[in-house]
Amino acid sequence: MTLLAVNGLETTFFTREGEVRAVDGASFTVERGQVLCLVGESGSGKSVAALSILGLVPNPPGRITKGSILWHGEEDLVRASERRLRELRGNRIAMVFQDPMSSLNPYLSVGTQLIEVLELHRGMGRREAEKHAIRALGEVAIPAPESRLRQHPHELSGGMRQRVMIAIALACEPELLIADEPTTALDVTVQAQILDLLDDLRQQRGLGVLFITHDLGVVSRMAERVAVMYAGRIVEEGHVDEVLVRPRHPYAEALRRSTLRLTGERLPKLPELAGLPPSPFARSAGCAFEPRCALRVEACRSVAPEERGLTLFGRSHRVRCHVVLAEKEGG
Ligand SMILES: Nc1ncnc2c1ncn2[C@@H]1O[C@H](COP(=O)(O)OP(=O)(O)O)[C@@H](O)[C@H]1O
Ligand SMILES: [Mg+2]
Repeated sequence: MTLLAVNGLETTFFTREGEVRAVDGASFTVERGQVLCLVGESGSGKSVAALSILGLVPNPPGRITKGSILWHGEEDLVRASERRLRELRGNRIAMVFQDPMSSLNPYLSVGTQLIEVLELHRGMGRREAEKHAIRALGEVAIPAPESRLRQHPHELSGGMRQRVMIAIALACEPELLIADEPTTALDVTVQAQILDLLDDLRQQRGLGVLFITHDLGVVSRMAERVAVMYAGRIVEEGHVDEVLVRPRHPYAEALRRSTLRLTGERLPKLPELAGLPPSPFARSAGCAFEPRCALRVEACRSVAPEERGLTLFGRSHRVRCHVVLAEKEGG
């Protein structure tokens, strides 16, 4: 069952310096019980794509200028009222942002915030909610959870705040979790515990996850499918085994190769590539990766490649590249 289907999403910021097409015709889906990882270098539009789904793009200067975002295959969130979006956020779609302070209330204790969610969304009584809150903090690897309940966000370390934010996001038993680099400030052991928790929820409750990360180790561990974003477009999307191991798009391939060169076998953080990412203001008519691409041909400069669907080992795969397309057609 498809929880979320993003089709041709375009999100534009209208700034004094010009128009920034932060998301430029991106399409992807998240199925029930599936993790889709969204990867790509900084500025490629990952966070704006996530905010677009939830109706949280700051307006002005930004707004969705094209496309649809179907929830459960029918309800277009692009057209949903603010009231409906608010109802979905916090109820059925949970989100975890990079900056935990932006989603925690500084004036309320951790316990109050967590218990409120449990009372409101799960209809628990006070006592039950308290018990559950302690368990929820334990699940995100917070030691001595009873004593944490009374603390306020500013009394916690960055990593601890991140864990609290994740516990609150999951407390309402969402169907979809949108997580934007949620484990960046965490040490490896705690991160592993949280990824295990998400995996349990995925298997037990069919939680769908859109997971934005720079960490290819996290991708290979968590994702069933991966979408690689470059300059607002999904340049390749497919099963994790294909995209990480046998990428088709030259950008995805450059990522794979530089990660291997840096570390041998281990998958590290997304590496820096040679050359500059494209200016968000002056997007070329052709492929945005063309200036940095080793395989570029004449057409790449002037014509934007269409998205091309393939079937690889019975699984769907998409790529946007003239060269890959020509290879396919040449046999
Ligand atoms: N509030 C804003 N005003 C203008 N431009 C923005 C705003 N937020 C994001 N952008 C632009 O959108 C593009 C994508 O940003 P973002 O989605 O944050 O990238 P990522 O999460 O992949 O690092 C960038 O070029 C960024 O400058
Ligand atoms: Mg971001």
